[in-house]
Amino acid sequence: MLDLFADEQPWQEPLAPGAVVLRRLAVAGAATLLHDIEAVAAISPFRHMVTPGGYTMSVAMTSCGGLGWTTDDRGYLYSPVDPVTHRPWPPIPEAFHALCHEAAIAAGYPDFQPDACLINRYAPGAKLSLHQDKDEPNLSAPIVSVSLGLPAIFQFGGLQRNDPLKRLMLEHGDVVVWGGESRLFYHGIQLLKPGQHPLTGEYRYNLTFRRASNSE
Ligand code: SIN
Ligand code: FE2
Repeated sequence: MLDLFADEQPWQEPLAPGAVVLRRLAVAGAATLLHDIEAVAAISPFRHMVTPGGYTMSVAMTSCGGLGWTTDDRGYLYSPVDPVTHRPWPPIPEAFHALCHEAAIAAGYPDFQPDACLINRYAPGAKLSLHQDKDEPNLSAPIVSVSLGLPAIFQFGGLQRNDPLKRLMLEHGDVVVWGGESRLFYHGIQLLKPGQHPLTGEYRYNLTFRRASNSE
């Protein structure tokens, strides 16, 4: 398929103190990232986790890295072992590391060293309710979040759940980085609309890189 936007250069949009949108940064490497997502999912498959409250999440998830984000009946936790396979999560692929590093530098977090990457898969109708990423013990590290495939509306608020929300469309290849003052800002993804993307079909994928261990 002829891609009229293949030559588009990435650009930056400030989002909040400590937060920036790096538009299209992941477009050039997207095919490799998607291939690597498949390789990770062949080892640790996508699954719909059940929250401690007993609610089955509409987003399918898996992880790679030394630690993976998961749930059990007590709460949310980072675990070195995938509870589905009872084996370690696959390592973070090299192309993931390279993109995350590039994004972290562009956003002003050159020392960010992720040890966990959550992979979210949204089908039409899936959403992620407003939440804070607060299960990480070391909040000095930012979150680097990569969007691939179908577009979705991202909500980004403040430290209080009822703070006003910014709503922005995240498109294929967009990367959002938030840290510093906005590290604990509420955010979420509105219900995914049906569509077809040339690289991902009916899905949207999202990678979020985190520092989940206690060490600096
Ligand atoms: C997340 O908040 O962990 C994911 C956000 C997204 O899918 O863009
Ligand atoms: Fe999040």
